[in-house]
Amino acid sequence: MGQEKIRNLYQKKEEGKKITALTAYDYCFSLILDEVGIDIILVGDSLANVVLGRKDTKELASEEMMVFAQAVIKTVKSSLVIVDMPYQSCHVDLASGLRNAERFFSSGADGVKIEWFEGCLKLIEAVVKAGIPVIGHIGLTPQTADKLGGFRVQGRDYRRAKELIYQARKLEEAGCFSLVLECIPASLSEIITKKVKIPTIGIGAGPFCDGQILVLYDLIGLFQKYRPKFVRQYINMYNLVKKAVADFKEDVEKGNFPQTQESFSLPQEVLERIRQDEEI
Ligand code: KIV
Repeated sequence: MGQEKIRNLYQKKEEGKKITALTAYDYCFSLILDEVGIDIILVGDSLANVVLGRKDTKELASEEMMVFAQAVIKTVKSSLVIVDMPYQSCHVDLASGLRNAERFFSSGADGVKIEWFEGCLKLIEAVVKAGIPVIGHIGLTPQTADKLGGFRVQGRDYRRAKELIYQARKLEEAGCFSLVLECIPASLSEIITKKVKIPTIGIGAGPFCDGQILVLYDLIGLFQKYRPKFVRQYINMYNLVKKAVADFKEDVEKGNFPQTQESFSLPQEVLERIRQDEEI
C-alpha cells in the first residue's frame, strides 16, 4: 500500500505534477488533510514547538512522538503517512536508531523522515535495508541548527551549496525515496531536483522542487510565535479562535449560553413527580 503511494510520487515527478505535503499531529487535522487529498502527511517533530510549546525539537522524546503518530496513522486512509524521527530517536547507536525506526514503521507509518547529521547515512542504509521507506532532509535541519549557524538560509556560499548537492546524492544512494530541502536558495534546489531521480519536497526552497511542504499551523495561522518568510498563511486561525473564545466567555457571563436548543429537556411527567416527591 505504502509502496504504491510512493510509486505515485515518482510518477508525479516524472509527469511534472506537483506533490503536496503538510504536517499533522492529531485526528482532526489529519482527517482534513486526508480528505482533501494531500499526498504526504508528515507527523513532524515541529510538534515539539507548535503543539508542546517547547523551544527546541531536540526536546521531543521518541515515546511522545509515538502518541501523535498513532493518532494520525489510525485516522489517515489515503495519504502517505511519514513519521519524523526525533533527535532523541536517531542520535543514538545504530541498533537503537534502527529499532526506533522499526517501532514507528510497525505501528503503521508508511515510512520515516531522517534529518541529515554526521553519521546519518549508516542509519539510513540500515533502515532502508530493513524495508522501511525513508525521506532524507537537508538544508536547514532544525535538530542540528546550532551547527549550521542557527535558523538561516543554507547553501548561499559555494562550499555549502556543494555540500548540499553532495548530501542529496548520498541520501539518494543510501536509498531515500524522497528528499526534503529546507531553506535553501531556489536555484540551488532546482539544481538538486534535476540531479536526483527521487522527488524533492521544498520548504523555503523555492518553486522548482517536485513538491512543497509547510507546517500546517503556519499555513492556518495558528502558530504566532514566529513566521518564516517562506510561509504563506491562508487563514488566521489564531484570531478566529481567539474571537470565538472571547464570544463564548461573553455569552456565558451574560447568561446567553446555553439556551433551550443547547439543553436537554426532562419529560413533563418526570418533572412533576420529582416536584411532588416528598423524599426529595
Ligand atoms: O518537523 C517538521 O515539521 C518538518 C517539516 C518542516 C519539513 O520537518
